[in-house]
Amino acid sequence: MRRPGPSRSRDEVVLRADEYRLIRELFAERFGLQLSVEARLSVERRLRERLGVRGHASFLEYYQFLKWNPLSAEELDLAVELLTTHETYLFREDYQLRAFREEILPMLAHLARPRRRLAVWSAGCSTGEEAYTIAILLHESGLFEGWDVRVYGSDVSKRCVAAARRGVYGASSFRTTPDAVRDRWFTRLPDGFHVSEPIRALCHFGQVNLLDDERTRVVGRVDAIFCRNVLIYLEQAARRRVIDMFHDRLSPGGVLLLGHSESLLNVSTAFELLHLREDLVYKKPLGRCPAEP
Ligand SMILES: C[S@@+](CC[C@H](N)C(=O)[O-])C[C@H]1O[C@@H](n2cnc3c(N)ncnc32)[C@H](O)[C@@H]1O
Repeated sequence: MRRPGPSRSRDEVVLRADEYRLIRELFAERFGLQLSVEARLSVERRLRERLGVRGHASFLEYYQFLKWNPLSAEELDLAVELLTTHETYLFREDYQLRAFREEILPMLAHLARPRRRLAVWSAGCSTGEEAYTIAILLHESGLFEGWDVRVYGSDVSKRCVAAARRGVYGASSFRTTPDAVRDRWFTRLPDGFHVSEPIRALCHFGQVNLLDDERTRVVGRVDAIFCRNVLIYLEQAARRRVIDMFHDRLSPGGVLLLGHSESLLNVSTAFELLHLREDLVYKKPLGRCPAEP
């Protein structure tokens, strides 16, 4: 079959195997994304409109722009947005949230009591539902009244972070949320359910690529990290980097919660497994006190 020449319309521009290899390498290097060989057609479909918008005649030209042009940051943002999955909803994986509420929060409250400050990070928060879920659980627990409590939500996608900051959701975001919880913490307006002020006030959102050491440092020390349904999209080397960074960011005794299909097997041995009644989570060891002189 003939390859499309320059005279073909943009709808017909094909992502050739050699071009796809370059694009896969670029997104793995910058964002840790693991794009499978089989996903070529889907990547072609998702990125093709960008070629049209930017006036590139081929995927090679588009790749070269992304890779080498000093002004490509904004376009990279748009492209990574198109290549990532943003599926999320409030109160996702309720067995894990029960473990968080009933077993992890009392443990963290005990650990952090001397400083009366608690920080939880939703890393890869998509449109913010996970961060607001965490904030609701912290607020409802009643364990942290008068404390400095913060929930950080971050995502590589600028559009998702903007939606998270808005905090307005449609019915699908509440697919597993009891109506009573929804009605307690959200106000129904014509454009959707708006998160209520006490919950919004706990949450702070930012655009962060988990592979960008400088940006991840902005988050500071945290007591718990939720990174659910993110690592599955990353390649092995990137998973290791991200997990090492989480280890660094967690306070001793802090916990890491992954999605139900994710684990640290072959990724890190730096964490202890914490066996809870309903879940297994990872804990940063408390470490030994320095020896007395
Ligand atoms: C499927 S969503 C998970 C949302 C939420 N954690 C949950 O479990 O419902 C995955 C999110 O990870 C984000 N993501 C993927 N690679 C990332 C990276 N390198 N840095 C930061 N976020 C990333 C995507 O933009 C996407 O919003």
